[in-house]
Amino acid sequence: MRFPILASLALVPIQVLSVQLPLKPMVNQAPMAIPGTAKDSPLAEETRKELWGLHKSLVNIESITENENEVAKWLESYLQQRGLKTELQEVSPDRFNVLAYPEGRRESRVLVTSHIDTVPPFYPWEYNESTNVVSGRGSVDAKGSVAAQVIAALDVVKGYKATQNAEPSLSLLYVVGEETGGDGMAHFSSHKPCNYASVIFGEPTEGKLASGHKGNLGLKLMAKGKASHSGYPWLGLNAIDILIEALRVLKGLVGTFPTSDKYGETTLNIGKIDGGVAANVVPAESHALLAFRLATGSAPAQRERILAAIETVQQRAEERGGGLETEWEAEGYGPMDLDADVPGFETMVVNYGTDIPNLAGDHKKYLYGPGSIQVAHGPNEELTVSELEEAVKGYKTLIEHALEDTS
Ligand SMILES: *[C@@H]1O[C@H](CO)[C@@H](O)[C@H](O)[C@H]1NC(C)=O
Ligand SMILES: [Zn+2]
Repeated sequence: MRFPILASLALVPIQVLSVQLPLKPMVNQAPMAIPGTAKDSPLAEETRKELWGLHKSLVNIESITENENEVAKWLESYLQQRGLKTELQEVSPDRFNVLAYPEGRRESRVLVTSHIDTVPPFYPWEYNESTNVVSGRGSVDAKGSVAAQVIAALDVVKGYKATQNAEPSLSLLYVVGEETGGDGMAHFSSHKPCNYASVIFGEPTEGKLASGHKGNLGLKLMAKGKASHSGYPWLGLNAIDILIEALRVLKGLVGTFPTSDKYGETTLNIGKIDGGVAANVVPAESHALLAFRLATGSAPAQRERILAAIETVQQRAEERGGGLETEWEAEGYGPMDLDADVPGFETMVVNYGTDIPNLAGDHKKYLYGPGSIQVAHGPNEELTVSELEEAVKGYKTLIEHALEDTS
């Protein structure tokens, strides 16, 4: 997230690799049958073919976080072949962000971005003709956004060349690691000067323009006790009891956080618990992972409030020879207001986190993409043919609005 990188703001040039990989043949396919029919589409038949070919290829290259190497190189090669300059930025060994722009526009005023990693497990791309639905891991989150953005951007570039004989001030960025804390975007942000006027982020918003998303804090609790025989619990100290007490206090606390008209209530998810060894042993250790989705307040203020609430539990544990330690997963962030000043879009507020707080700079922030977050991490990740095709149109409108805004 943002705070660990502030110390390393050195402007190191992005590593440029000139590997020219052949386009990987699309997995298991005869000549591609384009989903749906052209007559219901806002796109020309050629564009539809390009869009679905790109979407299918991206989905079929497995890229669960930490394994983004192949998809990054494939996408880089694809963008190069479509006439853009490209760079691979190494985030960690074999993990690359992809940056692409028309010649001479590396320092563009508008950035279009999304992520190329997905959650596990992998499911291949599939088209169901009877429902007109396309499924597969990443088909929505976020390869649907990536494919629609790329096709829209290429179309805008082509339009500028034809009508203005110029390159638009536009670049594309596809990052790794979004699903596990955003190391790709944080790395980009700290290694390239970011002076964008507008940034268009792609995540599933059901084709609406997001006017904001909730804040996020991740907390780890680690309780320490003392093991003993369960028949003589007074000889030990139960670490799971300590943890349960802290969790009860925190669940009570989030209910007292002020609510917001825009973002609703702050919520707490206790996402993971472990500890102990057996039913007949007083547990010496236990842990819990928590996610707070903040509707109000700043991250530092809410962090303080959360820690203050469990102080008594901590003290009591320490007095009895145990302890309760806390560790924030990252600095976190409060609710994030976004720009929604483009005519023609319905707006919505979303409850999930994004890479938006990980990109430093004072730019307009747009969040838009095809498909619904509600299926994004499930086994039924899918979108309709028209959702993806409409998104090309939506991104084109956003890109053109942003370019006009800054000219
Ligand atoms: C397509 O979707 C329908 C409705 O969900 C389902 O019954 C059918 O089995 C699917 N077809 C294929 C080929 O998956
Ligand atoms: Zn996503």
